[in-house]
Amino acid sequence: MTDQIRATISTTSKYLPEKVMTNHDLEKLVDTNDEWIVSRTGISERRVVESGQATADMCIHVAREILQKRDISADDIDVIIIGTVTPDMLLPSTAALVQDAIGASSAWGYDLSAACSGFLFALETGVNLIESGRYNKVIVLGADTMTSILDYEDRATCVLFGDGAGGVLLEPSQDENYIIDSLLFTDGSGGKYLCLPGGGSIHPATEKTVRERMHFVKQDGKKVFKFAVKGMADISSDILKKHGLTGNDIKLFIPHQANKRIIDACVKRLGLSPDQVLINIDKYANTTGATIAIGLAEAVEEGRVQTGDYILLAAFGAGFTWGSTLIRWGTTF
Ligand code: ACO
Repeated sequence: MTDQIRATISTTSKYLPEKVMTNHDLEKLVDTNDEWIVSRTGISERRVVESGQATADMCIHVAREILQKRDISADDIDVIIIGTVTPDMLLPSTAALVQDAIGASSAWGYDLSAACSGFLFALETGVNLIESGRYNKVIVLGADTMTSILDYEDRATCVLFGDGAGGVLLEPSQDENYIIDSLLFTDGSGGKYLCLPGGGSIHPATEKTVRERMHFVKQDGKKVFKFAVKGMADISSDILKKHGLTGNDIKLFIPHQANKRIIDACVKRLGLSPDQVLINIDKYANTTGATIAIGLAEAVEEGRVQTGDYILLAAFGAGFTWGSTLIRWGTTF
């Protein structure tokens, strides 16, 4: 045990909307087919919110389950951080809506925008709050309602995404198991390849922005694919090297779920075997800020991680943003 306060994940949770949208459902909306989607992306189906359900609703499910699993009161929560690019509204923040709904009377919180890297960026921020010694219980969530920003006339993007939320409770570690390190990067020169141009201060909503479909995600898929493979593979091997580890030391690699082919390329470059990798893109598609948090919760539920195991997380997303987090797993509470 070090003298320094370190942060550990004490609790995990996830929420996926019940409604399933299959590739065959999408065939009725755009000129696509199941074979193309499965072979190019690995996605078979995704979850989608009901009308009227939004990002905060999913976050509230996750936050309540975290409180229940850890058997603590909402008043015990110090901070709520949500990685999302689909907040319910531009203001107030989704974190404020969640704080109110769960009754976290002592908490402050905010949303953090880093697209598919949002959960890792939020996690690093939460870790630093715990390590400062000033906060003891930080809820970190990753959540996106991607169906609210998808253009169902653009077959190249609408088939890729789904809705979902996941999250963790961070607390000071009691032993030698904790979140060891994160390497995070932003390169804004890649911004144009994956963006949502309308609705911000440069293109406020007008009839023209709506007509020109500027309130939907635009992506140069090929460009993003190339950067994603290099970004996630390089940063994952950098963090392992920095800590004197190799792929063999990793019990579970939980990569951002954007495309099965991107994951396979990273796994190959890291020299990992299939049983060391969590893949759920087939069921949930790309839930942007939520993929890694959902994966973590699923890994815990399925008993795929045990105390002392090394877990490696890696993300790549719009910005460009990317990062990797190394954890020695343990929840001794
Ligand atoms: N169904 C059928 N055909 C399609 C579809 C579809 N849904 N979408 C595109 N096509 C067609 C194209 O029009 C093209 O046809 P053409 O050759 O006649 O012009 C053909 O399929 C090939 O298209 P490509 O774009 O070359 O397909 P590619 O193999 O590159 O796969 C994909 C596209 C899946 C989008 C891939 O590039 C990708 O996954 N990119 C990365 C996505 C990503 O990682 N995003 C980052 C995270 S997201 C975030 O941060 C919010």
